Amino acid sequence: MKVIIISVFIFASVSADQCRPRNYYWRPFNGSIPNDAFLAGTDLNGKKNYVAKIIPLDSYSWTVPELIKEDWAYIDFSWCCGGSSPLIRVDKAIEILCTENQASLQWQEVEKHADELKPRCCLVEGGIGATKGHIYIPYIGRVVQKGHNFIGRTYTDRSYKGLHIMNGTVSRQILKDYEVLTYHCDDNEVSLRNGEPESKSS
Ligand SMILES: *[C@@H]1O[C@H](CO)[C@@H](O)[C@H](O)[C@H]1NC(C)=O
Ligand SMILES: *[C@@H]1O[C@H](CO)[C@@H](O)[C@H](O)[C@H]1NC(C)=O
Repeated sequence: MKVIIISVFIFASVSADQCRPRNYYWRPFNGSIPNDAFLAGTDLNGKKNYVAKIIPLDSYSWTVPELIKEDWAYIDFSWCCGGSSPLIRVDKAIEILCTENQASLQWQEVEKHADELKPRCCLVEGGIGATKGHIYIPYIGRVVQKGHNFIGRTYTDRSYKGLHIMNGTVSRQILKDYEVLTYHCDDNEVSLRNGEPESKSS
């Protein structure tokens, strides 16, 4: 029994380490989309979508990922959900998610919660926030509806449910069937398979 417990522990720390080398980074947005920006989706009308990281200047210490399209000069943001929280227009200190290898970042479907992917994928961090002494990492989520991409934040901490997006100037929460931006999923699957004693190499 002891042997099994120890090997499970070793495996768990190996897969946590696999998320440390990251093949993505953020570049300041100066009005034009960088050449190595991660293409997060293309709308039915051909318009390209990217992931921005913004600082909504308000009383929260929090950065969040949002959608930015190729011809946008600012991002409209409000906290979840609907009309109650004020609209903040952000046009400064916007950053764009970039990568040297587009194929290394992948959207993975979840049913309800981003943490469904945690055992086999690394999640792309879309910012950081703190409230009441607790630190939260917003991850990047997407839902495609009627040929349009909506990109926003999702949390592995289930006290913040679903995917939080902006639809124009309205904030919305998508509670199921959305995607989360990940990397190294296959690597983890491979190491899981290799870790099984009865697995055969092919
Ligand atoms: C804007 O940023 C891009 C890279 O993202 C750079 O190539 C370009 O020179 C910058 N333009 C200005 C005016 O700073
Ligand atoms: C966005 O708003 C439009 C117009 O109100 C609505 O038809 C559409 O379903 C909304 N989409 C999402 C994802 O909220």
